[in-house]
Amino acid sequence: MRKQIAAANWKMNLTYQKAEVLLKEFLSQPQNLSDNKLVVLAVPSPYLTMAVDKIAGEKHMYIAAQNVYSKKSGAYTGEVSVEMLQSIGVTYAIVGHSECREYFNEDNALLADKVKICLEHNIVPIFCCGEALPVREANGQNEYVTGQLQDSLFDLSEDQIKKVVIAYEPIWAIGTGKTASSLQAQEMHAHIRSQLTTKYGADVADSITILYGGSVKGANAKDIFGQPDVDGGLVGGASLNAEEFKQIVQGLK
Ligand code: 13P
Repeated sequence: MRKQIAAANWKMNLTYQKAEVLLKEFLSQPQNLSDNKLVVLAVPSPYLTMAVDKIAGEKHMYIAAQNVYSKKSGAYTGEVSVEMLQSIGVTYAIVGHSECREYFNEDNALLADKVKICLEHNIVPIFCCGEALPVREANGQNEYVTGQLQDSLFDLSEDQIKKVVIAYEPIWAIGTGKTASSLQAQEMHAHIRSQLTTKYGADVADSITILYGGSVKGANAKDIFGQPDVDGGLVGGASLNAEEFKQIVQGLK
């Protein structure tokens, strides 16, 4: 069975002190995790080391960066490299979040480079894709997401793509309280898997974890994650509350 993942994306929230409290609260109870049921916490860059230290000894829990740069090192002020992440024990990185695409003009070609450099350094990229509301209203979401996959992922080899986690995050559902219905999520996840099947074959496609993101809450996680092609979620707002995020983790199948 492919990995099921509850991933938190704290975005640009919390002070260091509040982040420590949140982690402590979250870690205060065992989560029923297993080799196939993981928790990944994407915390702000200045808290990565603290978070790696805090989860040391916890099984099936990993720390992610919220972004990473496409170059190995050099004069790129303000950016964070895969080598830096690797050197402090970070094992996942979000790549291509819609907020980075929108506010920092990250395009599909840049994201292809980011995915590649992550894979070269054993960082698992959580590659985000998803359409804006006008695209959905014009029923163009399948083509749109196919384009994102083709441009950023489909140059990867079979061995490489197997290591990528994909997160479908419809932009109209992010931070809006408007969740995609479980049927809408399932339809898009099945579409993504069918594209992967066409390109890489059914065995590879079946092994790839596809997360849903966009207003996931404790109350809707089980329903959404219960869909056959939904393998967990990438959670923003609701991951800032330890109890709520625990409930989301419990929703993994
Ligand atoms: P919300 O869960 O706040 O809608 O955010 C989703 C998201 O962008 C996760 O990366």
